[in-house]
Amino acid sequence: MANGPKTEVNLQDAFAGESQANRKYLAFAKQADKEGFPQAARLFRAAAEAETVHALNHLKALGGIKSTRENLLEAIGGETHEFKEMYPPMIAEAQQEGATEALRSFTYANTVEKTHAELYQKAFDVLGQADAQFDYYVCPVCGHTVEKSVPDRCEVCGAAGSVFILIK
Ligand SMILES: [Fe+2]
Ligand SMILES: [Fe+2]
Repeated sequence: MANGPKTEVNLQDAFAGESQANRKYLAFAKQADKEGFPQAARLFRAAAEAETVHALNHLKALGGIKSTRENLLEAIGGETHEFKEMYPPMIAEAQQEGATEALRSFTYANTVEKTHAELYQKAFDVLGQADAQFDYYVCPVCGHTVEKSVPDRCEVCGAAGSVFILIK
């Protein structure tokens, strides 16, 4: 049966909430490990995994997963919205309020979303080409995302290239 307008909004809210809970619980698990509470860490990771199941079920019920071509176009649109419309006023307001940590966090994200939009566009352009196969690496400090090889230093935050995470 199709979703009514209330269910559509409810699914979107529930998808957002479950997605947030997943990331929050993973952060809480890391903190529990740091504090020497491995059992609490395990439970946070288990619940995080379950929230992902819920989030994906909600997204599926929303009809939010389409073909890869369509998904890449949606991703380009989302990233572009973030760096063109969403982050610039947030950066300005963090500056006005002297919120330095938020300012850094917004600036990292804003810079990297531009790169994401470009990488998605490139991937869209060569989708399915057998010779366009290579790895991506992510900076664990700022999220900077690069293809093929790591730089000596992250161009966005200055972290050493050796800390970049290889994405399989
Ligand atoms: Fe992004
Ligand atoms: Fe970085």
